[in-house]
Formats: sequence, C-alpha cells, structure tokens
Amino acid sequence: MTAQNTPEVLSIQLDGSSVVHIGDQIHASLRQAIMDGRLGAGQRLPSGRDLARQLGVARGTIRVAYDRLIAENLVYGAGSAGTRVCARQFTDRSDDESSFAGPLAGFTRPYSSAPQPFQMGVPADDAFPAKLWARMRARAVRADANSYTTYSDPRGEPALRTQIASHLAVSRQMRCHPDQIIVTSGYRQGMMVVLTALCAHGRKAWIEEPGYPLGRRALELFGVALEPILVDAEGLRVSDGIARAPEARLALVTPGQHAPLGVTLSPARRHALLSWATEREAWIIEDDYLGELQLDGRAAQALAAGEGAERVIHVGSFSKTLSPALGLGFVVAPLSLAERFVEVCAALSPAPNRSTQLTLLEFLADGHFLRHLRQMKDLYTERRELALAHVSEFLPGSMAAGLGVIAPLPGLTNDRSFVALAKAQGLAPSALSAWYLDRTHAQHGLLLSVTNLHRDNIDAACTKLANIVAAH
Ligand SMILES: Cc1ncc(COP(=O)(O)O)c(C=O)c1O
Repeated sequence: MTAQNTPEVLSIQLDGSSVVHIGDQIHASLRQAIMDGRLGAGQRLPSGRDLARQLGVARGTIRVAYDRLIAENLVYGAGSAGTRVCARQFTDRSDDESSFAGPLAGFTRPYSSAPQPFQMGVPADDAFPAKLWARMRARAVRADANSYTTYSDPRGEPALRTQIASHLAVSRQMRCHPDQIIVTSGYRQGMMVVLTALCAHGRKAWIEEPGYPLGRRALELFGVALEPILVDAEGLRVSDGIARAPEARLALVTPGQHAPLGVTLSPARRHALLSWATEREAWIIEDDYLGELQLDGRAAQALAAGEGAERVIHVGSFSKTLSPALGLGFVVAPLSLAERFVEVCAALSPAPNRSTQLTLLEFLADGHFLRHLRQMKDLYTERRELALAHVSEFLPGSMAAGLGVIAPLPGLTNDRSFVALAKAQGLAPSALSAWYLDRTHAQHGLLLSVTNLHRDNIDAACTKLANIVAAH
C-alpha cells in the first residue's frame, strides 16, 4: 500500500464501541475521501486484502463497502488495475470556494432512483395516482397520434393554457389570459425562458439567503450578479436589498412559502417588494414551487395577483404537486412581456411533448388535480407531525418548515460531512449551509423532507439518523 492511500491518509479510524457498523464506518470514510477529493478521479483504492489486514477486519467487510461505492457510481472495478475512483465527482469540501462544487455538492439529489428517506424536492412516491394517470396518458397518446403532423403551439396546447389560467384564478387568485401562459418542462425551463426574454446577462439580482441552490445557479449561468438578501420570520428583508443593492433590476423569490425555511412573505414586505419593483422598473421572478402546498392555514395569494402584479413573472411547476418525472410547469408572463416570451419559446424553447400536456389537461379539467392537492396536504401534515415528534427526541429544537423539518446540529459546524455520512447509510437529508451563498451567513443544520416518510419506514429512518447523531 502506498503512503498515499493508507487508512490514516484516508481517515479510516474505526470505533468498535460505536453503534455504527464497522462496514458502514469504512464505507463512509472512503466515500468522504472521494467526495472531498483526497481520492481523486482514476486513483486506485487499496486492495481489499491490504486494507482488511491493516484495519483488522474481514475481507468480506471491505468487499461489501467497495460494492456499495460501486453501486453509488463513485468507484469502478478496473480488473487487474484494481478498484478506481470514477471521474467527475462533485466535491463537498467545506473550504472549496468554487460556487458550483460548493452549494451543489450538499444538495445534488440522487437522480433516476427511488426517493430516499428525508430527500428534498420530491413528492410522496406512494401517493401518485399512477393508474389514473396511465389511463389518461394512454388516451392522450392515441389522440396525439391521430392529430395533425404539424408543429404544435410553442406556448403549449391552447386548451391546457386555458385550464391552467382557470386553476390559477381559483388557487392563486391570479387573473391572467391563457395567452400570457407558456407551458414548460418545469421551473428550470421556465427560468431559461424568463432570463432569455429579460436579456438578464450583466444585471444584478437580489436572491434569498438562504435560497434554492439551482435557482441561484441558473442566474449565475446567465451572467447575473447576485446579491444575497437575508430571509427572516417575515420573509425577504426588502429594506436590506434596497440598502445593499439599489441598482438591482431583478429579484428571485419564493414568497408563497420560502424554500427552505417555509415562511410566507408578510403583507408589509410584500408591499415593499412590489413598490420597489414598480419604482425601479425591476422584475420580480416568483418561484411558486411550494406556493400551493401550504400546510399551515390558507395559502397566501400569489405575488402575481393583485396590485403590482405587472412587475411579477410567475413561474409554476407540477414537480412537487404531481411528480418531477412528468416534466411539466408553466410561466405566466406579465402582459407587457407576453409577446417577447412567446418569441423566446417559439425560437428557442418550445413547450414539451403534446401527449403529456393532453394528459395534464384531462387531469385538471376533471377535477383530479384539486382533489390530489387536498389529499397531499392532509398526507404531508400527518407525516410532518409524526416526523417532528420523532426527530425532536434526538435533535431538540427541530422545527416544522414547509414540507419538512429543520433540525439544528448542536456543536457541529459542518453539516455537509454529516450529510455525507447519512447518505452512505441510505438516507438523504440536505445540508442547510448549502442553501447559503455567503459563508458568513451560513447556518448549519439538516433539512429533512417528510414527503416520503410513512408508518412503514419512519422508525427505521429516524433510528438510523439518531445513531449517526449519537456517533457524532
Ligand atoms: C424552490 C424550488 N423551486 C424549483 C424547484 C424545481 O422545480 P422543477 O422540477 O420544476 O424544475 C425546486 C426543486 O426542488 C425547488 O425546491
């Protein structure tokens, strides 16, 4: 074994008295060494036999740890060349100044796999109306196949846009014409259309601190300068924004239900934000991802409803209300920008495929969506209560926040390494600090989504989490 990859260098220190299984400890240490770059792409792991001997454990224990790393696509078996680290890993080193590797590392979700306990950004996996959706989808595919072989409307199917406009009138108190609506594949395509239409490059934007990392990244990718503005119990501190960056012409906000703290923008702050936008001719991008899923009382009306709405671009998504696998969302353009938005989607970014849109059309028109929303709110309320009760037992001070729980990690100043350990055990909490742009603002803690915690898995998931907390 080279000096480079001894157990000491890899920080493999086994604690025989810990409740965490020895194999799990080895796996977590190796995983951490890969994630923070001590084991780089292509580098060879010690042979199973060598490592087993050095650590005084059975070879089978090492084999299981390596197999888990292979299953996580972190390493690969290279035959006689040994087991090597895969390329293109994100790092989660907390001193990494790269804005890409930093915030995303603690946040990047497992894609295309079953949701794991505590995983953010996914609805309940067991409550999607799969049979009904499949039936409607089959009908929609037939209708689509029998329809014209011409280009479809780049803004999305007219009948779907009409349905979305009616739904927004009821659930978000918005008055908009279907021609202001553009159907997208979700929030991310929505941001693409919005930022292109606004020629956002070179402008400055207020962003929420903490705030959704991919929203922030979307602005960065467009060359927008970011000004992080703290969020408190009333939401975005608008006066801080005015004091710190009066020249900003954009604000990206989650006023209905802040992500991830769950607060709703207070009426006073709402008024201040809309007045600022009107006076400064600035644009507010309203990310309404969680707006409809308010569990505590009635949902506040959208920022794009009522006075000042002409400065607000409303971005909606069906990812959390239905499923991110569908890839459906929408943008509501203010009247003054509608033509420009249509140009962008016609030339660059047309609405997604017609049959998915037709399925959603039927789902909305037949009243299934409102019923589904009601059921999901009841389900999440129950799951949140249950989870909060469990988690508070070993992490006192935990609080309900949106569709999850925020848990403090007393005495711990690196929530990302804690998250890496939890991930190695099949849990997917998120690090609160990864949602901050400015490290001096960052609070450390765990974001624990409750959407996929139910009576069958909650005990096991919370016990695992409690054990990791205890081992710390
Ligand atoms: C606040 C917020 N906005 C938007 C999104 C993404 O939405 P979409 O899947 O439509 O891109 C997420 C996903 O987690 C989110 O947390």
